[in-house]
Amino acid sequence: MDEVAIGLIGFGTIGSGLIHILNENKTVIEARTGFRIKLKRIADLDIESDRGVIFDKSILTNDAYKVLNDPDISIVVELIGGYEPARTFILEAIRNGKSVVTANKALLAQHGPEIFENAANNCVDVAFEAAVAGGIPILRSLREGLIANRFDKILAILNGTCNFILSEMTENPGSGFSQALLKAQQLGYAEADPTLDIEGIDSAHKLALVLALTHGIRVPIESIHVEGITKIDAFDLVMAREFSYKIKLLAIIIRHGNRVEARLHPTMIPERHPLSKVDGVFNGIFLRGDLVGDQLFYGRGAGREPTASAVMGDIIELIRSGRSGKAGRVPPLGYPGPLKSSDCILDMNEVTTNYYIRIQANDRPGVLSRIAGIMANHNISIHSVVQKGRDFSGEGAVAVVFITHSAKEADLQKATLEIGNLDVVNCPPAIIRIEDEDLD
Ligand code: HSE
Repeated sequence: MDEVAIGLIGFGTIGSGLIHILNENKTVIEARTGFRIKLKRIADLDIESDRGVIFDKSILTNDAYKVLNDPDISIVVELIGGYEPARTFILEAIRNGKSVVTANKALLAQHGPEIFENAANNCVDVAFEAAVAGGIPILRSLREGLIANRFDKILAILNGTCNFILSEMTENPGSGFSQALLKAQQLGYAEADPTLDIEGIDSAHKLALVLALTHGIRVPIESIHVEGITKIDAFDLVMAREFSYKIKLLAIIIRHGNRVEARLHPTMIPERHPLSKVDGVFNGIFLRGDLVGDQLFYGRGAGREPTASAVMGDIIELIRSGRSGKAGRVPPLGYPGPLKSSDCILDMNEVTTNYYIRIQANDRPGVLSRIAGIMANHNISIHSVVQKGRDFSGEGAVAVVFITHSAKEADLQKATLEIGNLDVVNCPPAIIRIEDEDLD
């Protein structure tokens, strides 16, 4: 049986997952592909720690160039993450005529054009299925199986850590954000520094890749509206349940003719929506194609074996392409030419959606009508309103919650600023956007 040599740079959790797969699923992979994959060299700064997998330790090196310059190695797997030295190593691998598999969404979101252009010029491939939704083969589905579709709507839960925290806060109404985050850290789901996850940055990098594949638009995440989950109050989750909603951190892409709405923020969705059932560390992608209609992809977005499964799928795909002499068969972002830019993204102020607004106000006659008056002045129509008793935030303050009909973000921002400045309102209103097709 033919043998194909690959090299790995970055020997962390996913790297050890790759060895696990090569050990445990060797026969099934060989039966399906007809070739043997040999991990010839692994580079990492730490070549001492036990990774809990069995392999020949003599292949370890702390010099990445031993991988990059090895003429036998045709595919380099980059799993160190971050911008540098990952970018330098990937570009060097490409220059040396090697195809690259990576899970590095941050690097691709930031330096994708440079990497893809170099790969095309050197007739090699770059694959990155593991960068979005871990073990779910969503990128390949978008780029190949669903290629004939226009994507009218995509709603996606792309971060397991945030989904775990929100699920935890929903299931245990007494559990605040900090307590839920601590539990996620204790269980090993959240990093010691969870900023990238909880501030929505990790999800935004993934959103940027999905946007490129589905609409041919490449944007820096700075041009997308990104909000994390740190401001979600346990009270909002209780209210969500009263309205038969759940709160999820959603990546949202909605097509409006030639323009696209792209945003990432905590969102209320109806309990009956399929994404509402995506709880805990799971990821879910709900999409609406003009040909296929609605589809839901569900699975593990992180973890050793699921992520390594996606990396291995890419390795095999690239070996197959290389062997058939068809590197570059499918462009990495699915489009043959240059991608469109941020101009195609609808300005956030132009977005129209439904809103949950929580206002902490004094419980006095006339307060509600003053608030409602400001909303009316800004074209915001109220769908429902609930006032909760005086136990929410102390002395004479009550929580008043509004659900709006469809309103424009710019109007909503102006109205909530004005409401927050009222002498009877104690702090700026909290806003959570709603995706509910039954609301208008
Ligand atoms: N930290 C991510 C998550 C996985 O919690 O889903 C890697 O992108």
